[in-house]
Amino acid sequence: MPPDSPPVPLPEAVQAVDPIVALAYLVAGVFFILALRGLSSPATSRRGNRFGMAGMLIAVVTTLVTHDLANIVEIAIAIGLGGLIGFVIARRIAMTSMPELVAGFHSLVGLAAVLVGWAAYLNPGAFGLLVPDVITTLDERVVDYTTAISPVSKIEMGLGIAIGAITFSGSVIAFLKLSGKMSGSPILLPARHIINLGTLAAIIVLTALFALATGPAETLPYIIALTVLAFAIGFLLIIPIGGADMPVVVSMLNSYSGWAAAAMGFTLGNTAMIITGALVGSSGAILSYIMCRAMNRSFISVIAGGFGADASAGGGEAKEQRPYKQGSAADAAFMLEQAEKVIIIPGYGMAVAQAQHALREMADLLEEKGVEVKYAIHPVAGRMPGHMNVLLAEASVEYDKVFELEDINSEFAQADVAFIIGANDVVNPAAKTDKSSPIYGMPVFDVDKAKQVFFIKRSMGGVGYAGVDNGVFYMDQTMMLLSDAKKMVEEIVKALD
Ligand code: TAP
Repeated sequence: MPPDSPPVPLPEAVQAVDPIVALAYLVAGVFFILALRGLSSPATSRRGNRFGMAGMLIAVVTTLVTHDLANIVEIAIAIGLGGLIGFVIARRIAMTSMPELVAGFHSLVGLAAVLVGWAAYLNPGAFGLLVPDVITTLDERVVDYTTAISPVSKIEMGLGIAIGAITFSGSVIAFLKLSGKMSGSPILLPARHIINLGTLAAIIVLTALFALATGPAETLPYIIALTVLAFAIGFLLIIPIGGADMPVVVSMLNSYSGWAAAAMGFTLGNTAMIITGALVGSSGAILSYIMCRAMNRSFISVIAGGFGADASAGGGEAKEQRPYKQGSAADAAFMLEQAEKVIIIPGYGMAVAQAQHALREMADLLEEKGVEVKYAIHPVAGRMPGHMNVLLAEASVEYDKVFELEDINSEFAQADVAFIIGANDVVNPAAKTDKSSPIYGMPVFDVDKAKQVFFIKRSMGGVGYAGVDNGVFYMDQTMMLLSDAKKMVEEIVKALD
């Protein structure tokens, strides 16, 4: 190139990012990090939510004001309509249905990534993806922008579409299983591992071929094939996973949707999308790992599927009919009053019964009578991370009375009463002693060390999520309080009054 050749202006989309825009996206990214930090504790979670909303506002407004928009009215209508639908759904949804709502929303993130990828493929000029092909002649530079999308952009595009499609179909199956519209039992295809690995390998090969090919006629078959296969693999990966592992799957799909967004962020050169996608991707992956550890399941065994075949979503029956002691609300109230220290273990049944407010009332009355009351929360109690913390916070239980498993487990030996309300698997001693149990190895509360155990559930037949019988029902010091949790606690409150 001759040194005095005239500078060739680059199209707007290929120019370096405006420093103000970069700064705005960085600020949005910092807000997102602050949001995650805030959400790590119930005490700061509201602030975390506000940081998240502020960060999203900055990112959206920056994108809108710095881009040449085809039609701002259409975009405003889409945002308004989407926001309204989200608002109505979120207000109506019951807390116990939150995992299926999250799965439903993730499917939309995945679909958005697929659509953005396809839009960028079909109209690369608008996304600034065309590589300027500079042909130098003796006296001028000729720039031809119509050459092609760069191979790197096509790899990002292919990955974004593939991860997005997997997220979409996987999340749809997770939604159907969690909402009971499809059986929660694993559907195990013969040779499924070979089919899955083969399909994944095919997607990788197709992405590489897509990146290397040039011209619409050559690239189109590859992008169609990889999109179709990615939709199929999302479906195939999730159908063998049983209902019991679905929350881990939802968190894993959450992570995938983040990586899909990050891949699209690279394609579009959008820093905010890269930061947000990476944050969602990594936090989802960490959460999946924490859940697997708390359930003593390896991440690989969750993905390989098949757990929960005997009883998913608490559908099984207790196998043994051993003698047990049953008591009434009046019996429980009498003994609670005499206690010095009571540890409450809430579980999924408390969420179903919405018994948290009555429970708080009961704890207040006991405290007035000089009883020390603490709450013990298992990391996988309920059906989603933080499920019990959210419910107790809703009932204004002070955070300093709520303890994690490892912080309180040693205190059961000094407790007069372990008050189990709608929990089951998280107190099952089989996790410590029975190697054949599906929950073997899961850390559980040592309720057997307490002087007395009160166990609220509706019937002796109902089991927990893992579908196994529980030795705590039959212990000498256990009194079964068979009733709906809210009804039972309200009766105890009446008796205490
Ligand atoms: P579960 O073991 O599922 O037990 C729930 C108990 O609540 C059952 O004993 C059930 O018995 C009772 N129950 C249901 N509705 C009730 C009502 N209205 N009133 C009174 N009792 C009621 O609950 P958990 O101890 O919280 O354990 C959670 C399980 O979910 C674990 O196995 C865990 O691995 C799994 N899991 C959790 C997560 C997360 S992130 N939290 C993720 C994946 C899996 P009745 O039917 O007889 O009433």
